[in-house]
Amino acid sequence: MWDYSDKVKDYFFNPKNAGVLGEANAVGEVGAISCGDALKLMLKVDPETETIQDAKFQTFGCGSAIASSSALTELIIGKTLEEAVSITNQDIADFLGGLPPEKMHCSVMGYEALQAAIANFRGEEWHDDHEEGALVCKCFGVDEGVIERAIRMNKLTSIEQVTDYTKAGGGCLTCFDKLEELLAKVNGELVAEGLLAEHAAYRIGGSDAAELKAKAKAKKEAEKAPAREAATSPIAPSSPLPPPSAGMTNLKKIRLIEEAIEELRPYLKKDGGDCELIDVDGNNVMVNLKGACMGCQMASVTISGIQERLIAKLGMPIRIIPVKSTH
Ligand code: FES
Repeated sequence: MWDYSDKVKDYFFNPKNAGVLGEANAVGEVGAISCGDALKLMLKVDPETETIQDAKFQTFGCGSAIASSSALTELIIGKTLEEAVSITNQDIADFLGGLPPEKMHCSVMGYEALQAAIANFRGEEWHDDHEEGALVCKCFGVDEGVIERAIRMNKLTSIEQVTDYTKAGGGCLTCFDKLEELLAKVNGELVAEGLLAEHAAYRIGGSDAAELKAKAKAKKEAEKAPAREAATSPIAPSSPLPPPSAGMTNLKKIRLIEEAIEELRPYLKKDGGDCELIDVDGNNVMVNLKGACMGCQMASVTISGIQERLIAKLGMPIRIIPVKSTH
């Protein structure tokens, strides 16, 4: 599986600045639970000096999303908006000692949330809305602007990189032609500006959609079997947290699970879904996904998000098993 730096693991298990910032006067929200990731960044900005005095976040996503959001808050507290606006997703990844390529989209989400929050403070409109024609990847709700920015900022030159950084193209690949078109267009601009060598630029036809689809399928298969992942993930067992179940009664475990689900509920509801705890048997947690979550084609991503949240909260490998409610 993925190779996480010690800092990513630390920031996942001990997130800094997680929660709600009551005095926030700038808020940036990006992503959606139904697409597997969502981040709300809240800032307290001094109106006189435009210095970020405090920052907090709430996120729904994998361990890297939690670590990236946490790193972002650490990077921006104490900076002026002018300084903060130039922070890139690569700065977030570098702060964490790097992210696996497949998880770079988490740092991009942090970057987008920061831009959205700064725009919100300045009373400007942040163009994250999926206007007619702007939505490129329907599977993951990624629009043209996000893709173009990620290509330009990170000098991406392959469709696989675009998927790693934005998630676009990580599903049915119906968006393949548009991704090729955007990649070739922005690479062409970068070459013209002297920022990219001509031989490295992507050209239409440079990738094979069927091959990419097969690779994505193989990756997905490897990501299935959550029990195996929980037991072998570099995040879970080598964490500094207590060993599984150390000093934890069943009642305490159930309370923590309920607490974690409660924290996630507003995000699930926002997307028209919900999650109900059905049973706990050892490390297996049975849940019933309701509403939009249930039929959502990204239900497996939602489940893995809940699973990672529970692993973080309980400090032990957890396997989420979706079941139907019997009442
Ligand atoms: S539309 Fe982009 S992967 Fe399905």
